[in-house]
Amino acid sequence: VRDHTSGINKQQQPTPQLEVSAEATDEEADAQGNPVGRFLSNIGRSSPLVSASPEWKRLQQHAKYIQSTHLRDLLQDTERCQEMYATHDGVYLDYSRQRADLETMRLLFELAEKQNLKQQIEAMFDGEKINFTEERAVLHTALRADRSKIGTVMVDGVDAVQEVHEVLDQIQEFTQGVRSGAIRGYTGKRLRNIVSVGIGGSYLGPEFLHEVLKTEPEGSNAALGYSLRFLANVDPVDVERTCADLDPEETMIVIVSKTFTTAETMLNARTMRQWLWDFMGNDKEVVRKHFVACASVSATDKVRDFGIDTENRFFRFWDWVGGRYSVCSAAGAVPLSLLYGFDLFEKFLQGARSMDEHFRSAPMEKNIPILMGLLGVWNMSFLGYNTRTTLPYAEALLKLPAHIQQLDMESNGKSMTKFGIPVDYPVGEIDFGEPGTNGQHSFYQLLHMGQTVACDFIGFVQSQQDLCLDDEKLSSHDELMANFFAQPDALATGKTAEQVRSEGVKDELIPHKVFEGNRPSISFLLPKLTAYATGQLLSMYEHRTATQGFIWDINSFDQWGVELGKKLAIDIRNKFLKARNEQKEERRAEEEDIVEADNPAT
Ligand code: F6P
Repeated sequence: VRDHTSGINKQQQPTPQLEVSAEATDEEADAQGNPVGRFLSNIGRSSPLVSASPEWKRLQQHAKYIQSTHLRDLLQDTERCQEMYATHDGVYLDYSRQRADLETMRLLFELAEKQNLKQQIEAMFDGEKINFTEERAVLHTALRADRSKIGTVMVDGVDAVQEVHEVLDQIQEFTQGVRSGAIRGYTGKRLRNIVSVGIGGSYLGPEFLHEVLKTEPEGSNAALGYSLRFLANVDPVDVERTCADLDPEETMIVIVSKTFTTAETMLNARTMRQWLWDFMGNDKEVVRKHFVACASVSATDKVRDFGIDTENRFFRFWDWVGGRYSVCSAAGAVPLSLLYGFDLFEKFLQGARSMDEHFRSAPMEKNIPILMGLLGVWNMSFLGYNTRTTLPYAEALLKLPAHIQQLDMESNGKSMTKFGIPVDYPVGEIDFGEPGTNGQHSFYQLLHMGQTVACDFIGFVQSQQDLCLDDEKLSSHDELMANFFAQPDALATGKTAEQVRSEGVKDELIPHKVFEGNRPSISFLLPKLTAYATGQLLSMYEHRTATQGFIWDINSFDQWGVELGKKLAIDIRNKFLKARNEQKEERRAEEEDIVEADNPAT
């Protein structure tokens, strides 16, 4: 049996291509002589789907009971509330406002055991090729492993952590060189504007981190005199907005593309190259001095062909870094260290590392990302809440929801299990979000009175930049946090008709002012939004996604769903090209006719 699910219970793994239907009995499967039949017999079920396991069925049964409870009552249970929290390195998670009790958690832990969750996590950290459809390891955790881990994670005979640190050292040296003025542009000017060209995972993670660091005191000081912009969309308007007021002689273009083939990124890269040539002349040296590439090792030739100096200006990452998991690689490190200095980027890596270690070693009952993942599975697959929202009460996290949207929806937006059988249970939530309190004046009406959406509230004890007017008793941050604490309670407890009536509301309006409540949320409280805390948040969410994928038996690390659209766009682009050529041909013929008519003698 091919081992695509890492070292977990190797003898029990099924082949990827199942020829036995999900409904086949053990006997039928055995009769077909298929190894899957033996697998099914071993695990005592007639289907390899997790939904056929007793652990899953027990949760389904238990969900019926939970559906009959109200959070108003669950929150009265002190023993339950005292248990439903976890904390690590300053991050505090309160999940007492989930539609769950201690029995729910016990059953979820049982399911996690059944799914060998801890072993699957270990396999990921160890560099096993768990992304089996692409035959790749999944090692974004190695991107932030410290030097003491050199020699511990090997991929195809290569030391992953050693490679990571080689590149980090190269990035540190290069970015310090630019920031000190030792490395300059083609005309000798300091390089102060950075344009990072990339899309999807090559953009969303770095932009989310950039938004945090912009107002973080250490970040804003370090960035004085520099600017960073992201060019992602192939819409020409994005180019215009990016370059409108930039001086090309002071601009460094960072092309971030793992594959170095993404159509939008490559067109934008060529556009930026032309923009520089238009100002400084069509010289190869312009590209060598103003362009940097962050791409996978396998794209080296393409980077060279573009004209980039692969000796000094190419910062590699590896096939084992998924695009949406790449912010800790050169994809984030180069543009952000150019703007904020390498030391601050390193603090972000340290925060992520701290949460990685917690995820790997803490017991499930107190493991923040595992709890988040199990509750995600609970809400989605058992309670039927297919949407969730990220609500940071921190303006600087305004791009976190967009990052999570890609991270999770591209990872778990699947319908096929690793056994090659379609899932028969709901997987893959719709994610959206907006910072509070802005969201309160936008879509919270639906959260309170419309559909049930699982909410993640994120708040900070201290603000990056607090503000308190002399004649105000509370600071702006206090005001923000008052809302942060109020919303989860309002969603959980709601407001009964009696409460509304007691406020003197007219009878006919009472139904309109009743809040059903019973809407689940989790709350995170962290000391302060720093680079370190952002690393913790990133890692937490990455591991939530992985946990859910592991429980659901899906591969969270491929993204074949994006391919069809790309392919169709190529076909349409070719049709455009043909039409343009025909138009050109017609115009040329018309012009020839006009010339002939004007000069009959010729
Ligand atoms: O949108 C699909 C995708 O493949 C993402 O997974 C990836 O982050 C993005 O495109 C960009 O890919 P690349 O870094 O190779 O340009």
